[in-house]
Amino acid sequence: MCGIVGYVGREQAAPILLEGLSRLEYRGYDSAGVAVCSAGEGRLEVAKAKGRLKILSDMLHGGADISGTTGIGHTRWATHGAPSDVNSHPQVSRSGRIAVVHNGIIENYAELKAFLKEQGIPFASETDTEVVAQLIEYFLETDKVGLLEAVGRVLRRIEGAYALGIVSADVPGQIIAVRKDSPLILGQGQDFHMLASDVTAIIQHTRDVIYLEDGELAVLTTEGIQCYSQLMVPIEKKVSHVDWEIDAAEKGGYEHFMFKEIMEQPDALRRAISPRIAEGQVVLEDFHLDEAYLKSLEKIYIVACGSSYHVGMVEKYIFERLLRIPVEVALASEFRYMEPIVTQRTLVVVISQSGETLDSMAALREAKRLGAKVLSVVNVVGSSIARESDQVLYTWAGPEIAVATTKGYSTQLAVLDLLALYLGRLLGTVSQETYDQGVAALEALPEQMERVLERREDIQYYASQYFNHNSVFFIGRNLDYAMGLEGSLKLKEISYIHSEAYASGELKHGTISLIEEGTLVIALGTCGRLFDKAMSNVAEVRSRGADVLALTTESRQEDMAHAASGVITIPDAAEIALPSLGVVPLQLFAYYVALMRGCDIDKPRNLAKSVTVE
Ligand code: G6P
Repeated sequence: MCGIVGYVGREQAAPILLEGLSRLEYRGYDSAGVAVCSAGEGRLEVAKAKGRLKILSDMLHGGADISGTTGIGHTRWATHGAPSDVNSHPQVSRSGRIAVVHNGIIENYAELKAFLKEQGIPFASETDTEVVAQLIEYFLETDKVGLLEAVGRVLRRIEGAYALGIVSADVPGQIIAVRKDSPLILGQGQDFHMLASDVTAIIQHTRDVIYLEDGELAVLTTEGIQCYSQLMVPIEKKVSHVDWEIDAAEKGGYEHFMFKEIMEQPDALRRAISPRIAEGQVVLEDFHLDEAYLKSLEKIYIVACGSSYHVGMVEKYIFERLLRIPVEVALASEFRYMEPIVTQRTLVVVISQSGETLDSMAALREAKRLGAKVLSVVNVVGSSIARESDQVLYTWAGPEIAVATTKGYSTQLAVLDLLALYLGRLLGTVSQETYDQGVAALEALPEQMERVLERREDIQYYASQYFNHNSVFFIGRNLDYAMGLEGSLKLKEISYIHSEAYASGELKHGTISLIEEGTLVIALGTCGRLFDKAMSNVAEVRSRGADVLALTTESRQEDMAHAASGVITIPDAAEIALPSLGVVPLQLFAYYVALMRGCDIDKPRNLAKSVTVE
């Protein structure tokens, strides 16, 4: 989704903006642009180009062609109007003296545009964002107010979601930042200040950040940041310190972020798990959901999007087994429109790596409105979802840059596994034996995962056998089915191969008609108690000509080898840890297949890392 960066200080802004934008490329975009103000001449220069950021950067010779020490930059992921130079941001007002970058959607833009056109104001682009730039200028001219007041008037008229960065040629040395339902952070430095959609864009300049709340506005100058409430009353904001290292957001010798992040999983899991286990017990520090409330729970709703939703699908099986409480998993984009049955005795668990996914955020608010408490599992510290939840459990995976999530997914699983054991103990629904086995399995997980990663050449070999297939089915039961959903998504996201995940038992109710000679079926059979069923399903598809690549545990390898064309193994482990181990070969398979097909692995077409529009 769109990325925003802004800089005001003593250095030339354009090179800093271009560098910041390069760190936001991972979010997914189709065009880029910058606007820079030069104080002395009261000049505002805008440069933008469709396509990769490199086109813009080359056009500006790395920023050297555009001078000034205040500027805003943007990577655009098209919503209103096709990707094009003219639809790229910054969008400017008629006079070219106001420039705006925007992430989100102005829902009532058509009505505002019609009004402005009636006033004789011509529009250059098809974007909703241009309305903001034009409307600011309209208020400046007709109401004879200052820039801040004009922006305030615009905010009272626009509806929707937005993070905005605004500069004016007439007030050089100043950036106005606004946010509502779209992410925006402010960076505080010595003699400079910045704004950005996420911390990766500014971390090499400063780690001191201010999180703006919905409806708040800020004026950034070289000397400082002044924040205002929705009612335009000056407010003091807390400055937080981000502890991510810059190297964590760099490739460090790996060809792709996705591969680096796959390989980082054991360490990420150590960070997520070790501090939460002490002397064989799950310890959740700062967990303040009331015991009486937890004991009164009638239902748990897990709400998320994409891979985080798939984590929810795994955890439904784990939570229901350990807690004996009904667990419903909902897509966040559906949740708020389905009149969910949520009461004060429902715990809503929102899972989000970025903590900024708009649908998940909206679901969180709906859940709270309905009286539920919200517990979120989030990676990005200080993100919107984390801040609005009643309780947050961080995954501590470090920055995840590749669009296709890997360490984000596996640390979410680990944190929810820990939560399931913790609640099982609290509610008295889990036996001592299962609890002890679960805790031991999670403690052993990072090391076991290292063993899976060491055998990556086997996966590479299978990828070389199958990368030409055009359609792949993942089948499995129970936890294996839920894991298959993620394996299938990984493959289609980055290799563009059509792929589906099916609950094995459901296959014969229709989908089996698609199995023919040579169809690739990836059969997941890690779950010991369902292994025989997995074998029967393998036989079923093989007898119809499918080529079967199976995934099972080491102790079952031989049995499976009789049935499947190829077998990948993971170490034997307690059930709770199987999806975490099993997903790794599936991530690697997707990665190697995409590599062999020459795909743009870290930035797959049409996808965005953090989806901040509905
Ligand atoms: C996007 C990403 C997915 C991710 C989903 C949910 O679609 O491409 O990888 O799973 O958003 O993101 P979240 O940050 O809420 O986990």
